[in-house]
Amino acid sequence: QTSGMWGGRFSEATDAFVAEFTASVQFDQRFYKQDIAGSIAHATMLAKVGVLTEQERDDIINGLNTIKAEIEAGQFEWRIDLEDVHMNIESRLTQRIGIAGKKLHTGRSRNDQVATDIRLYVRDEIDAILTLLEKLQKGILGLTSKNTDTLAQPVTFGHHLIAWFEMLVRDSERLIDSRKRVNRMPLGSAALAGTTYPIDRAYTAELLNFEAVAENSLDAVSDRDFAIEFNAAASLIMMHLSRMSEEMILWTSAQFKFVNIPDRFCTGSSIMPQKKNPDVPELIRGKTGRVYGDLMSLLTLMKGQPLAYNKDNQEDKEPLFDAIDTVRGSLMAFADMIPALVPNIEIMREAALRGFSTATDLADYLVKNGVAFRDAHEIVGKAVALGVQESKDLSELSLEQLQQFSDLIQADVFEKALTLEASVNARNHIGGTAPAQVAAAIERAYIRLEKL
Ligand code: ARG
Repeated sequence: QTSGMWGGRFSEATDAFVAEFTASVQFDQRFYKQDIAGSIAHATMLAKVGVLTEQERDDIINGLNTIKAEIEAGQFEWRIDLEDVHMNIESRLTQRIGIAGKKLHTGRSRNDQVATDIRLYVRDEIDAILTLLEKLQKGILGLTSKNTDTLAQPVTFGHHLIAWFEMLVRDSERLIDSRKRVNRMPLGSAALAGTTYPIDRAYTAELLNFEAVAENSLDAVSDRDFAIEFNAAASLIMMHLSRMSEEMILWTSAQFKFVNIPDRFCTGSSIMPQKKNPDVPELIRGKTGRVYGDLMSLLTLMKGQPLAYNKDNQEDKEPLFDAIDTVRGSLMAFADMIPALVPNIEIMREAALRGFSTATDLADYLVKNGVAFRDAHEIVGKAVALGVQESKDLSELSLEQLQQFSDLIQADVFEKALTLEASVNARNHIGGTAPAQVAAAIERAYIRLEKL
């Protein structure tokens, strides 16, 4: 028995293994919703231009909506022999409504259909990921607000957190920008050359909320660079989450103890009873590699393809879906976990006091009293050497000891340069770590999120 869809030309049935090997329904059924929305818009347009009657259009739309309900109720029987999501749905439609179902594919090919479906799907996913990013960004800002004067190295913990926020805002911007190029409609390109019917592409595009139609039919059915661009943006999100993970893993380690991750985000060790593992950040750091791999798969998939649609393109789906699932899962975990981090304020403060973190402030103090910066650098270097020798921080040396290196050092040095508070408060400009600046940055950040 030959295939119902193209049986006309074939003299023998597709080999069973080949049918299974070339099928995509196992993974492309994931965008049944977009496929149905695209078909409804297509049928609506065909009726508008007179290719379908209004009755046929309504039968198609009702049939498709029923099929959608069947799928969502888990009652739809996906058939491998029908190859992909498109033919499964179309075949079921004809089974339900008869001849009108066979007319749905007029002026259309699976080539422009699948290209349209993926774009609709990626567009929806971009919106979902943007929502998750926003949740995480606001979570970071919330934690930042509570830590604008929590001192860590010579910066505040809040200043460090809001650096994470900046990375993630660029990620949102990239997604928003790439969404514009996703948002063009291939439908109407048919197999590769366009179609002979008097179609109204602009109308279909409007029905599907596409910003514009794809300009060239050959390009429209073959191009997947929007998926690559999305995956590149996803890779950068993962790279940022991985860097944040790395910092959290370090900060929660027994050696640092800067922050505590609540138990609900951690797991234990089956051998070491004392262990509490930061599994979520470690896993996200690990998962970053697979999203990079997905990007490499898509780039390689496209590089050798001549115009127009080639079956190679069916291979775009699994890497793309994997990248989407991974980025969504990782963002979901972080959006819950980051606001729940508990900073260990005392331990961070103590760490900030070590390592002569105010040495630059002492040099700046000298410069403000007339010393050239290079000379000031030299003077402070000598003071640090004394501190190292005596195992004392600069603030623990006596005024007499400090004055050996420069008589411009006065009693006000301790309060003006050598305390952590003086050090951070002095960095009082846009982008600086002064608590007042971080507080102002948080306010601007909320406004920037509104405007994205
Ligand atoms: N399942 C195919 C895909 O995912 C649909 C397009 C089929 N077109 C074709 N010329 N074989 O790309």
